Amino acid sequence: MQNFKGRTAVVTGGGSGIGRAMSLAFASEGMNVAIADIDIAAAEGVRDELLALGVRSIAAHCNVASREEVDALADAVFGEFGAVHVLCNNAGVVRYGPLKSTTPADWEWVNGVNLQSVIYGVQAFLPRMREQGEGGHIVNTSSIAGLSYLAGENIGSYVATKYAVVGISEDLHRELEKEGIGVSVLCPGGVQTRILDAGRNRPAALGGPIAPPPRGQDPTGEHAPQTSLDPAVVARMVVAAIRSNQLYIVTHPETRVMVAERFEAIMAAFDALEKG
Ligand SMILES: NC(=O)c1ccc[n+]([C@@H]2O[C@H](COP(=O)([O-])OP(=O)(O)OC[C@H]3O[C@@H](n4cnc5c(N)ncnc54)[C@H](O)[C@@H]3O)[C@@H](O)[C@H]2O)c1
Repeated sequence: MQNFKGRTAVVTGGGSGIGRAMSLAFASEGMNVAIADIDIAAAEGVRDELLALGVRSIAAHCNVASREEVDALADAVFGEFGAVHVLCNNAGVVRYGPLKSTTPADWEWVNGVNLQSVIYGVQAFLPRMREQGEGGHIVNTSSIAGLSYLAGENIGSYVATKYAVVGISEDLHRELEKEGIGVSVLCPGGVQTRILDAGRNRPAALGGPIAPPPRGQDPTGEHAPQTSLDPAVVARMVVAAIRSNQLYIVTHPETRVMVAERFEAIMAAFDALEKG
């Protein structure tokens, strides 16, 4: 997608961190922006920042783990702007802890916000994006942990959902290639956001808020990416990737080794197979 001006973007998890930064970046390209978040006050805060810049913007409360709420979001955004050109399925949460002690409620929370949300987003928005016939782009936020489990320890449920987001994006990229709708999957390493405190917005039905890990304690172990990027830098990478319809968006050169190590182990299995 080359032309951003006057077009419309919708960003889930737009009230904070990477979602807020993408919203600001789209606004600076002249787009209208719909900000959806489970934290309506945060979404309204970003909407107000955009309105102050003279950008057409709305804030919507939406729990992306609910198909009904994502459908209602699509109705609200198409109702307000008439079309959607960029869909960012970005909201995400992490639950720290080994898989052996991950509870059914933990799985439901992480799976709902990180994976089901992407499915719901695509199902609610894509048919109308195709129908409008103006092209567009979908950005799904995964993680470097969606390309290699070596990116962090004690985040097994996160890794599982983020791998799946990569798979959906790869397939969708191929499927939509001829329709003028691009697809990218954002796979960042560390970014300065509130993700460590993701438990602040865990719904009561799934156990309610969880306190963040103690300051200075890295729950993901020594393999976690070391550099923490400004989300604005990541947002600029996203805009560039939309322009070039680049499938994978990686952000940290030092995370390359983790991906290589995983694929080398898979290739070694093929080598062993060929040797008999
Ligand atoms: N920050 C990092 O280092 C990093 C690295 C890799 C991937 N990511 C991914 O980036 C995405 C954005 O996270 P962030 O780092 O900006 O964190 P953040 O916590 O600053 O922002 C996440 C936003 O998602 C919202 N949210 C949480 N649950 C929701 C729900 N059920 N429905 C709707 N909104 C919900 C939160 O209210 C918040 O505004 C996530 O998918 C995350 O997994 C982050």
